[in-house]
Amino acid sequence: MSGELLLWLLALCVLLAVVVQLVRFLQADGDLTLLWAEWQGRRPEWELTDMVVWVTGASGGIGEELAYQLSKLGVSLVLSARRVHELERVKRRCLENGNLKEKDILVLPLDLTDRSSHEMATKAVLQEFGKIDILVNNGGRSQRSLVVDASLDVYKELIELNYLGTVSLTKCVLPHMIERKQGKIVTVNSVLGIIAAPLSSGYCASKHALRGFFNGLRTELATYPGIIISNICPGPVQSNIVHNALTEEVTKAVGSGGDQSYKMATSRCVRLMLVSMANDLKEVWIADQPFLSMTYLWQYMPTWAWWITNKVGKKRIENFKSGVDADAYFKTWKAKHD
Ligand SMILES: NC(=O)c1ccc[n+]([C@@H]2O[C@H](COP(=O)([O-])OP(=O)(O)OC[C@H]3O[C@@H](n4cnc5c(N)ncnc54)[C@H](OP(=O)(O)O)[C@@H]3O)[C@@H](O)[C@H]2O)c1
Repeated sequence: MSGELLLWLLALCVLLAVVVQLVRFLQADGDLTLLWAEWQGRRPEWELTDMVVWVTGASGGIGEELAYQLSKLGVSLVLSARRVHELERVKRRCLENGNLKEKDILVLPLDLTDRSSHEMATKAVLQEFGKIDILVNNGGRSQRSLVVDASLDVYKELIELNYLGTVSLTKCVLPHMIERKQGKIVTVNSVLGIIAAPLSSGYCASKHALRGFFNGLRTELATYPGIIISNICPGPVQSNIVHNALTEEVTKAVGSGGDQSYKMATSRCVRLMLVSMANDLKEVWIADQPFLSMTYLWQYMPTWAWWITNKVGKKRIENFKSGVDADAYFKTWKAKHD
């Protein structure tokens, strides 16, 4: 074979590899490190057994699904949120469908904004199970309101709950993990902790703050390699997040949670969260397209990202102002591209 032919063959192989990677990326629902870990890395079924896992926001949505998937792995579970009857319902379903016994699940009511209760709650978990292997900071609320309309109390509430509530609980659990020189603090952040979108300025601020806090904490734990700080950044996922979002006033509810069908299935998001936990990944992005590409753009090509964000953002605001689901644009996009 001549040298020239060999070169052509090599170039063809490279081109093919690039095309395959591009097609895989267009179908990806998580960042490439995470999907690699899912394919080649450690499996949650091997890594997460016999652990004590404390999940906040376990009464619905992502936290509820996390409880179900964890209960199949044989962990001890602590379920926290404000609505005790919902936590009891989740506990019952965990017992019916998982591998756990009554003694393996503690329902522990917790209001993240009531910071004075966090120390007692931590003590209660340690008294019950003797250790905390994983804290999943999942509880939180989103926002649907424009900056010009939203009262300052809305911003205060979002920071109190999403940011300070999470920081406070983390600070209660951290000394225990430092003493044991091991543990995982997993925080359900959002792609809105990296990118920005209209109608969610306070939510974005709280999630950007969380990312900064946990990245900062990780740098302080460099001498504790057994303590893993993990930021999970999902894009849109099916849950009650929109229905429960804050509006212009703290007391005003969102009219409707909107259509959830175009969003990622909660079970898929949670499976990828477990993969991330099993593989000690520092930050993961869990999102379907186009949200995944947008996150990559924001990270690596911010000028382009701003151009697209301004175009899509205008549409989102128009929809919101005319009373249509703010995200109707994405539904149409998904329908066209699926
Ligand atoms: N779904 C998405 O598209 C999406 C995308 C990116 C990130 N996230 C993040 O995922 C996490 C879970 O949200 P979700 O989508 O599952 O929403 P969800 O269905 O509304 O669930 C939110 C959970 O947070 C709890 N919570 C709210 N306020 C609380 C408080 N003051 N104290 C303690 N718990 C509180 C709720 O329980 P109680 O009402 O019983 O207290 C509920 O269990 C949030 O941090 C959210 O920011 C969600």
